[in-house]
Amino acid sequence: MKKILTVIGARPQFIKAAPVSKQFLNSEGVCREILVHTGQHYDWEMSEVFFQQLGLRKPHYHLGVGSQTHARQTGTMLARLEEVILAEGPDAVLVYGDTNSTLAGALCAAKLNLPVAHVEAGLRSYKKSMPEEINRVLTDHMSNWLFVPTKQGMANLQKEGLEEGVHLVGDVMLDTALLVQEVLSRQKPICERFGVSPESYAVATVHRAENTDNPSNLQDLLIGLAQLPIAVLMPTHPRTRHAMTTHGIDVKSLDNIRFCEPLGYLEISDLIAHSKLVLTDSGGLQKEALFHGKPCVTLREETEWTETVESGWNMLSGSDPAAILDSASMQMHANHRPPFRELCDQYYGGGKASERIVSALIAEV
Ligand code: UD1
Repeated sequence: MKKILTVIGARPQFIKAAPVSKQFLNSEGVCREILVHTGQHYDWEMSEVFFQQLGLRKPHYHLGVGSQTHARQTGTMLARLEEVILAEGPDAVLVYGDTNSTLAGALCAAKLNLPVAHVEAGLRSYKKSMPEEINRVLTDHMSNWLFVPTKQGMANLQKEGLEEGVHLVGDVMLDTALLVQEVLSRQKPICERFGVSPESYAVATVHRAENTDNPSNLQDLLIGLAQLPIAVLMPTHPRTRHAMTTHGIDVKSLDNIRFCEPLGYLEISDLIAHSKLVLTDSGGLQKEALFHGKPCVTLREETEWTETVESGWNMLSGSDPAAILDSASMQMHANHRPPFRELCDQYYGGGKASERIVSALIAEV
């Protein structure tokens, strides 16, 4: 029987791994998955809630790495992962996305001469100052299987001479969104908890280092959001909350923004599904807006998910308040966008990415 060791550790990885891990469970007898949680994210609402809501299996190992500088965090992961990988002796190591947990998992496996599989390969922002860009480029170049979500990702890899082991599979985040569709349809809109009615508010999230670590960027972004003509619900990542305190940002002057704790997957999906607009610097939310047929403004200068912009469902604003307001107004008033369900199939593989990934691994490992 084949053994795949999966490394996850940060919030988006729990969401991406859920449907793939389910496929592994369906293939038990042929292929066994060992799940390792690095502990990069550790707060209940950044980690445990996703396991509960998405039925993700309990990790076999929890490395308890926690928050540190990038080098220390990645280095601690490497040392602890090496022990687990040596003890388990897997046939391949599977990693997701672009976090420090991704890089540590791939590098540790490569150093032990084990093949690496990368889900969400090929994405590029072409901005080397982003820690995620470094993590994903290095991981792709160490990987034996590159599971690519989009055609743009395929073109990016080709430019770097990466052709072997490349599979266009679609986006596992669409698989996850479809997994919970039925539960969501039975749920009462949670926006009422925040005192707003469906379609009368925007959802915003901000957590990228380029936005949180630069006081003037963060201040500008919040000023832009606070001036929107509709209420803004903002589940706040711990990094952002710390940054707001450190930079001395006065939340009282931002009374149009309702800050709350980070939300679980079901809650954020529901909030998006009943919103008028999504504003975010997260890669995941840009697509989740499209999955629910909601327009998006991306609070960055570039995106890895270029097809969302080409279709008109997404617009890039950067952090300038006037640009945020203009983009939001255009997105709220635009008509004639292509139907989103067809785009999800066309761009993101129609909910079959995890099935394709596990079939390829079973056939090729
Ligand atoms: C990480 C990923 C980013 C991903 C994001 C999703 C890297 C380089 N970045 O960024 O790509 O989009 O996760 O959330 O891997 N913290 C807590 N509790 C937690 C986790 C973090 O309080 O459970 C705080 C700590 O103060 C920590 C800070 O958030 O120092 C940053 O956490 P870290 O995991 O280093 O990076 P993220 O910003 O979450």
